[in-house]
Amino acid sequence: MDGKKAWKQLWLAYGKKKELGNGKYFENVWLKGFDAEDRVVNSALQELKLGAEGMLGVTPQLGTEAMLCMEKSEKLSPESYSVQENGGKLQILAGDEKGLLYGVFHVLRQVSMEKSLTGISATCTPDNPLRTYNHWDNMDGSIERGYSGKSFFFENDDIVINDRTRDYARLMASIGINGVVINNVNVKQAATWLITDRFFEKVAQLSEVFADYGIKFFLSLNYAATIELGGIDSADPLDERVIAWWKEKMKECFAKIPNLGGFLVKADSEGRPGPFTYGRTQADGANMLAEAVRPYGGIIIWRCFVYNCRQDWRDYKTDRARAGYDNFIQMDGDYAENVILQIKNGPMDFQIREPISPLLGGLQKTNQMLEVQVAQEYTGHQIDVCYLIPMFKEILDFHTYCKPGADTVADVISGRTMGNKNTGIAAVINTGNDENWTGNYLAAANLYGYGRLAFQTSLSAEEILDEWIPMSISSDPEVIKVVKDILLRSRETYEKYTSPLGIGWMVTPHDHYGCSVDGYEYDRWGTYHRADHLGMGVDRSDKGTGYAQQYYEPNASAYNSMESCPEELLLFFHHVPYTYVLKTGKTLIQHIYDSHFEGYDEAEGFAKAWDGLEGKVDAQVFANVKERFGRQLYNAREWRDQVNTYFYRKSGIPDEKGRTIY
Ligand code: GCU
Repeated sequence: MDGKKAWKQLWLAYGKKKELGNGKYFENVWLKGFDAEDRVVNSALQELKLGAEGMLGVTPQLGTEAMLCMEKSEKLSPESYSVQENGGKLQILAGDEKGLLYGVFHVLRQVSMEKSLTGISATCTPDNPLRTYNHWDNMDGSIERGYSGKSFFFENDDIVINDRTRDYARLMASIGINGVVINNVNVKQAATWLITDRFFEKVAQLSEVFADYGIKFFLSLNYAATIELGGIDSADPLDERVIAWWKEKMKECFAKIPNLGGFLVKADSEGRPGPFTYGRTQADGANMLAEAVRPYGGIIIWRCFVYNCRQDWRDYKTDRARAGYDNFIQMDGDYAENVILQIKNGPMDFQIREPISPLLGGLQKTNQMLEVQVAQEYTGHQIDVCYLIPMFKEILDFHTYCKPGADTVADVISGRTMGNKNTGIAAVINTGNDENWTGNYLAAANLYGYGRLAFQTSLSAEEILDEWIPMSISSDPEVIKVVKDILLRSRETYEKYTSPLGIGWMVTPHDHYGCSVDGYEYDRWGTYHRADHLGMGVDRSDKGTGYAQQYYEPNASAYNSMESCPEELLLFFHHVPYTYVLKTGKTLIQHIYDSHFEGYDEAEGFAKAWDGLEGKVDAQVFANVKERFGRQLYNAREWRDQVNTYFYRKSGIPDEKGRTIY
């Protein structure tokens, strides 16, 4: 199949909606203070037309003294808008063109949710300056950790640009995304050539599609491009030849790709080259590139997912969880102003439950961006349903204690903590060229929800569903109730039948779907769960790896002791006897048995509830989700039985309830 495969419009489908007196506002539109020829304004007008025609059967005409007035306002900041209805007149005020586009999407959202616009009053300013999606798409069309088909950007080492590209940009803009990284952080083979004449023209063309929707275009960069492209035998960031080559290269890149925002770099991790090879620091590497992009207003987003995947765990003090902090904390304050460190939400790797990375807020003088994963690498591959927004909310609300009054992760990445501008949030995207973009249709709730949350952090996981379900599935209250219940509970259900209390992993190596209790890849000498016949979990207290001490107080002390450690993270921080009694009064081993049985039963309940929606939702959507639930149940049963059997055999302690454990 090629990139031109058919696709759906998701929440922008704009099917017929209840009129509710909304049609009249769209008949005439008055554009004040904006240039109708501007590319972003033009996109806003196009979208208004599409939405009004599709949902209300009205074709807007430009005029004056109209019922809908869209006006530039000096009082609003860039990207901000205000939507007000008063006395039969609807007004969208916006700080700039992007604000106008977002304002139009806000209004269309109300229509799509079948809400009356009468009396509407909302003012929105995005919380995070940079709101990006990161694609892990490879140029051969494959997607690293992709679960919904192939790339729609690349095919056979070439770039694909078609109507789907535009629809993708529309979907992104509709949720407030303002930056997209189109290629995999592991920049290999042909992708290295994206910054050469071989691809410049097409890259520029692609980036222009995003420019129409106010989205900055970013590329992942091969840190060793001086060697692979430049014919220099080094990538040492302090080598004059390397510095000069990058300066020239960046001049060329920004000249040839006008909508270029900058670059994302994964260095010194999982086999990728980086400054460590030359005895230099991460700051040396990042700053060298930052200097080269500075004249063009470019930024370098440098990832903190740096660890040695070949480390030897026989030394108990060696702990992968420590690596991000250990590699970056000493250089706090040494990074250039146009460098942003992009930090994964947890210290490990997107597990279903992890503590928050201590680097977030741990760094006090460095621009930071949070990285989450919407692609369900460890959370069910978009086969199992797992609505991730509740998890993202927990991350954003976490108190790091870095600064009184402005210490949550949301504060840090919005710039409120340090008063900095180059901050934000990124997510690894879950799209591919499947007809429905995300494999499981319900996974589009994550695609949508992340963007909305990035724009407006205060939205709740539930509010986001109150938007997404009527826009994407149905506004029938019964459907909303069932889908909402499934989605809101899905993360905990997935957690219950997979790995308990923050231990993570126990997943098939490489593929990361399905259970393999002892399987984990990077550790050739032991397992990540460290289970023996008496207990399990990793001691990360001051008596163990010392990871807990990377946090500020009172978090450090809370995590340090078994009694005060939040129980959902108990096994992440402590090696715990199977007979240890949890706050529920259950022993650890009984908790493992119970949660695994419960998790499976809950998944079965979801599948049954979904079956009840037959005929009430689109037949294709129904069939797609039903098929996924079938596979989820198989997976959940495997996890339940393997985990319970494993720990029964290890501990020798039977299930109190006498259920069958093999
Ligand atoms: C995980 C994932 C890799 C990915 C890496 C990253 O390890 O399995 O496929 O490249 O994260 O975030 O760089």
